[in-house]
Amino acid sequence: MEKKYIQISYTEYASPAELEREDRELLERAIEATEGSYAPYSSFNVGAAVRLSNGEIVSAANQENAAYPSGLCAERTALFYAHAKYPSENVVALAVVAKSGGELTPGLTYPCGACRQVLQESQTRAGADVRIIVGSATKVLVLDSVDALLPFAFDNLN
Ligand code: THU
Repeated sequence: MEKKYIQISYTEYASPAELEREDRELLERAIEATEGSYAPYSSFNVGAAVRLSNGEIVSAANQENAAYPSGLCAERTALFYAHAKYPSENVVALAVVAKSGGELTPGLTYPCGACRQVLQESQTRAGADVRIIVGSATKVLVLDSVDALLPFAFDNLN
């Protein structure tokens, strides 16, 4: 037997102002997208923005439902719409942020497990790393690959 280790890396920014222009723009689009959140049950308004290889930005927000599991996270709403509308474009980056009580949350909103799995497949489709920008009221994290969020993704369906 052999014990193995996985190393991940990410960059922490003290504020969005420190981000590269494209990442800052994507985060701003995610913040704007929180306006489309339908979250009467959690009052947690999530916005996500996806940058595609053709330069298009597709954004979306979480959509809840009285039948709770029927709702969908902001990230998957944005990713599925982006792929459906631009099936031959690749996902380059995704930004996610949340508001509560009309204000950006102090804590970071990391994509949930199901969204990580969907992000991983967007990355496989692209054949290149997808950048993840996670925002909050205080700091911003940038991960260079979905592998850092989901190292052991399910992908052996063949
Ligand atoms: N939510 C997202 O949209 N994205 C995440 O990454 C985490 C959770 C939504 C689902 C639900 O509408 C609300 O936030 C509370 O869980």
